Amino acid sequence: MGVIENTNLNSPTSTSQQTSSATSSPFLAACYGQAHERVPVWFMRQAGRSLPEYRMMRGTDSILTAIADADLATEITLQPVRRYGVDAAILFSDIMVPVYAVGFGVDIQAGVGPVIAQPFSDASDLERLRPLEPEEDIAYVLEAVKNLQAELVVPLIGFAGAPFTVASYLIEGGPTKTFQKTKSLMFANPELWTALMDRLCDITETFLKAQVEAGASALQLFDSWAGTLSPAAYEQLVFPYTKRIIASTDNLGVPRICHGVGTGELLALFAQTGAEVVGVDWRVRLDEARLRTGGKVSLQGNLDPAVCLAPWPVVAEQTRKVLAENGSNPGYIFNLGHGVLPPTDPAILKQIVDLVHAEGHCDAN
Ligand code: CP3
Repeated sequence: MGVIENTNLNSPTSTSQQTSSATSSPFLAACYGQAHERVPVWFMRQAGRSLPEYRMMRGTDSILTAIADADLATEITLQPVRRYGVDAAILFSDIMVPVYAVGFGVDIQAGVGPVIAQPFSDASDLERLRPLEPEEDIAYVLEAVKNLQAELVVPLIGFAGAPFTVASYLIEGGPTKTFQKTKSLMFANPELWTALMDRLCDITETFLKAQVEAGASALQLFDSWAGTLSPAAYEQLVFPYTKRIIASTDNLGVPRICHGVGTGELLALFAQTGAEVVGVDWRVRLDEARLRTGGKVSLQGNLDPAVCLAPWPVVAEQTRKVLAENGSNPGYIFNLGHGVLPPTDPAILKQIVDLVHAEGHCDAN
């Protein structure tokens, strides 16, 4: 299929294995800040969204049904790797899959996002978040990851939603602009908040570990909406759980990426979660993000996804600007600052990949 160049990137448990995997993959090398030739690139939400071949295969059922079909999920994960030549694949799945799989009562509606019939409101709802049992509850995810490990030549990124972001859907019952119910539970009932975070940490840790054991070579934790919090609230009520989750994956031998949107004021804390890579959105320049994160972690980002809707000369100029703001640091992965927008022309994404590969050089450190 024209993308095969490297095989078992999985489970590098010893340092030497980790180094050899990283050496053969610009993406893994960049995660660890190791010297490599060129800037790696992939796109959040590259699987699906703007791809015509995705829309053809996807059908009209709930996305949760498509995700539960391991062969379909495998194919959709491969599509952007073939079309764009990106340096990493991201599993076709969703942050709501684990809570859906333990039976919380989640749907994902096209054009809306996650919708919860009976939102989380009091302590009795904790029981609806029983521990995840991967072999029984998400066998289809494990099967897709195993299929992909056999097919892929670039590392596969497994992922999960961070507890705050997942909790916001469970509590609000759907997407929100204000996070009013979530924040009110968090501030008014810290005991219940702690209990909810603990349950979600357990589920998330199991979910991430299962993906790596099945063959994922890197992990991304999406705390998409953490940027709605003040640094103080984030530090006290959310950061400890993210840190706990990252620590639980320390012994898996894969790099971890923590990403959020509007998290400019939280970048220093994101850098202290233990993750090797911190995601940056377009509101903060990469050189400034480098300062805020203390230069100790790799960065991923940060082209505004809306720029990709402009004509190519504009996209090219902005892509070059992002590369320039990185300034050849080897600890860098080119990406958008958030997911690909549905109307994006796939040809533009391909041109970005080619430009980053041609012009994105990194210095040996
Ligand atoms: O990145 C990828 O291509 C891999 C697949 C992936 C999906 N969701 C598939 C999907 C990933 C990594 C996610 C993560 C996710 N899901 C996040 C975190 C990343 C982010 O964008 O902040 C969040 C917040 C969700 C919850 C969710 N699922 C939303 C907000 C939506 C969008 C609703 C819409 O239609 O705009 C979904 C649905 C969804 N998940 C789609 C895809 C490809 C699009 C709808 C579809 O094809 O049915």
